[in-house]
Amino acid sequence: MWPVSVKKLCAFCFCACAFVFLIMTFQVIEQLGQFEQNTLRQQGTHVQYPVIVWWSPLTGELGRLGECGHNRCFFTVNKSYHSHPQTKAFLFYGTDFSIESLPLPRHEQHQWALFHEESPKNNYKLFHEPLITLFNHTATFSRRSHLPLTTQHLEALSALSSQTHLLPLSYKNQLRRTLAPVAYVQSDCDPPSDRDVYIQELMKHIQVDSYGQCLHNKDLPPHLRDSTAMDDHDFYQILAQYKFILAFENAVCDDYITEKLWRPLKLGVVPVYYGAPNVRMWLPDNRSAVVVNPNEPPKKLAQYLKRLDENDGEYLKYLEWKQKREISNVNLVTELKERPWGVQDLGQDSFIDAFECMVCNRVWENTHRREKKLPSKVWRAEESHLTCPPPELFEFAVSPSSSLRQIWRASYEQSRREARALGLMLRRNTNFTVTQFWREVFTD
Ligand SMILES: *[C@@H]1O[C@H](CO)[C@@H](O)[C@H](O)[C@H]1NC(C)=O
Ligand SMILES: *[C@@H]1O[C@H](CO)[C@@H](O)[C@H](O)[C@H]1NC(C)=O
Ligand SMILES: *[C@@H]1O[C@H](CO)[C@@H](O)[C@H](O)[C@H]1NC(C)=O
Ligand SMILES: *[C@@H]1O[C@H](CO)[C@@H](O)[C@H](O)[C@H]1NC(C)=O
Repeated sequence: MWPVSVKKLCAFCFCACAFVFLIMTFQVIEQLGQFEQNTLRQQGTHVQYPVIVWWSPLTGELGRLGECGHNRCFFTVNKSYHSHPQTKAFLFYGTDFSIESLPLPRHEQHQWALFHEESPKNNYKLFHEPLITLFNHTATFSRRSHLPLTTQHLEALSALSSQTHLLPLSYKNQLRRTLAPVAYVQSDCDPPSDRDVYIQELMKHIQVDSYGQCLHNKDLPPHLRDSTAMDDHDFYQILAQYKFILAFENAVCDDYITEKLWRPLKLGVVPVYYGAPNVRMWLPDNRSAVVVNPNEPPKKLAQYLKRLDENDGEYLKYLEWKQKREISNVNLVTELKERPWGVQDLGQDSFIDAFECMVCNRVWENTHRREKKLPSKVWRAEESHLTCPPPELFEFAVSPSSSLRQIWRASYEQSRREARALGLMLRRNTNFTVTQFWREVFTD
């Protein structure tokens, strides 16, 4: 008898579960419906807000009503808003800025804004006066841009002063039996800064453990070999054992500073820095890094590093700021306090949000001025908002010599011609074909 009632019980339970499940599904569907209605409502009402079009798939947002303080703007990557009457600004992303389709002709009310946080080598065209000055608003690594991103790779001052990874010098000295004094980890070889040629020369005069693909002479454990492991705790532990880390940027421009500088500073290793000529403006302390002078022979740098390696007192002077947790650089402290965005911080806007809002607020500012019959405010990027001198090669003999090295200078010179042509065509303000563009480039 009872097997039947067990069956009945099971059937009952099953029905009950199915019922509950159905109800839950209906609720979810209902909520989704409401959500969709909200989005639609937003898209319907956006016409009363300025439309700001990303001329790049960067954010992937088809339409979002963004809040910027008291102001609201409709942000979209949908290029069909080009001719919409409410479209007030176009946002460009430096790395995918292409001549092939630009929002032309540019209407009087169309403000152009450039966001370029990446290495100069990603689009040299933008680094020339005729092109950069066509933008109204900028967010670049340059401290002179409207929204400077110079410290984009630094989360907070506390990350610098943290002693989590700092090893005692006595321990580093013990490790010197098996480790070189200097570490290098780079897998993007032969970039415009020509760092690998300098370092190859340096390695003739001091021992360097090179873990990356460039000048490789030491292996990382297998689980740390791909580039995603660069922020792995184990990787930090390996690097923290060294006295020096070569922090050489891929390009040499004022204010172009990356995690290559910040990482060793966080770990309590002395960076040997080559890159932004004005790096001292950004160091936590004047004595926190060895700054490479490219006009002096690498041999001299090697001798200096060896001297510090052999003299604990001299070496420790470079870590005094870390041991005392003292960040003496007022410029750096002020910048981190005042920048209107955060890094890996959910409590703060990202720099993309901050860039969008800068443009949104400026669009509104002019709207309000027009309402008050005041003349519109004019914003214009200056050459200094994105600038970098032509790449230069070191003159040491190299083996094997890489053809990639030779490309950068030529590419820079070519980009100068392209910028001139593009600047000319954009000022003419008519749509043009790619063929017309190249004809203009070569009529130089
Ligand atoms: C882009 O916007 C237009 C209207 O302006 C709309 O018809 C089209 O569906 C949108 N495209 C996408 C992919 O949302
Ligand atoms: C920082 O160091 C440089 C070079 O070592 C030196 O010329 C400069 O005077 C120092 N600046 C300060 C404020 O100590
Ligand atoms: C934007 O830049 C263009 C080109 O320099 C200029 O003609 C225009 O007046 C600027 N608009 C604003 C609002 O600053
Ligand atoms: C401009 O020209 C390109 C191709 O050369 C075309 O794809 C684009 O639709 C044109 N834009 C306008 C606004 O005419």
